[in-house]
Amino acid sequence: MKAAVFHKPNEPLKVEEVENPKIYFHEILVKVAACGVCNTDLHYIDHGVPTFKKPPMILGHETSGIVQDVGAQVKEIKAGDHVLIPPVFSCGHCYNCRIGRENICLNMIMLGNNIDGAYAEYVKVPAKDCISLPDELPLEESCIIADAISTPYHAVKNRAQVRPGDSVVVLGCGGVGINVVQVAVAAGASVTAVDIKDDKLEMAKRLGAKNTINSSKKQDKAVITEIRKLTDGGADICIEAIGNPKTIEMGPTTLRPGGRYVQVGFSHQAAPLNAGRLMFREIEILGSLGCRPVDYPKIIEMIRLKRIQLEPVITHRFKLDDINKAFDLMRKGESLRSIIVM
Ligand code: APR
Ligand code: ZN
Repeated sequence: MKAAVFHKPNEPLKVEEVENPKIYFHEILVKVAACGVCNTDLHYIDHGVPTFKKPPMILGHETSGIVQDVGAQVKEIKAGDHVLIPPVFSCGHCYNCRIGRENICLNMIMLGNNIDGAYAEYVKVPAKDCISLPDELPLEESCIIADAISTPYHAVKNRAQVRPGDSVVVLGCGGVGINVVQVAVAAGASVTAVDIKDDKLEMAKRLGAKNTINSSKKQDKAVITEIRKLTDGGADICIEAIGNPKTIEMGPTTLRPGGRYVQVGFSHQAAPLNAGRLMFREIEILGSLGCRPVDYPKIIEMIRLKRIQLEPVITHRFKLDDINKAFDLMRKGESLRSIIVM
């Protein structure tokens, strides 16, 4: 089969012929329909973050496709089914899996990191982790549910616990943040979206944000003052989807006393925290990682009901041969989400 292979950092992926994956009794072989291009891949390609599987390996963890073949013990899924493949597979046995928090499984296996991913014509995955996709959902576009939509869903619903009428500040409206905006709007929030690019803010408006702030030419203090003004003294919730120590520092200061801050963006750098402010105002600070399997059917239903939209946030499509163009666009910050269509 054809696959985009990651050979070493700071080098483009190479599209080449590799062997087809062979499935075991509990696995399925999926003919990839599309795979979303995620910032996480840039961490491996550009930023020196090592993959768990040693290169050469295949990246790609945001996938939809059609089941081609199933292992001997697979009963619930059959050839021809449309499936969504979550980016992370859980063990089912550890403490966190047992208490229903599979997204922080202690033995998690990530597609396109621990094992070969889906920038390829075929991918093999454990049957138990796949989610069936109704025929009504567009198969290719649905790939982005696996990460770009599900990560924001978990952050908004389970971690931030957004309620109708809550004021929610979203810092960063990129591939992840824009979906934090639309999921928070779907949950009934009054959203203030912050970014440094007007096109991202226009999309946030289109997806229901009440206020937008372009922070590129403003001091942090002015941005905080503007947010407090717009939210009647401070937001109920702030979600950071950038991963920048400066916006991480700003996040909790946008909140009303008793407000909740949720970290979705990744940074390997530390960010300062005003402990006194945290204490006096009973600010809650939470992290958010990925999404639990139990939430996927709910997300799919919200998309079916058109409460969450896929099309507007998919800004570019590429063939596998052109995958490096998708990474170039991402480096320039010119795409919201690119998908590779097989
Ligand atoms: N202030 C406001 N917005 C900013 C700033 C800043 N200082 N710096 C960058 N941004 C905006 C960018 O303009 C962009 O719209 O933040 C957005 C970042 O989005 P993307 O680059 O598309 O990244 P994304 O895929 O959304 O991931 C964001 O979430 O899951 C994590 O690892 C991921 O840390 C990353 C974060
Ligand atoms: Zn586990």
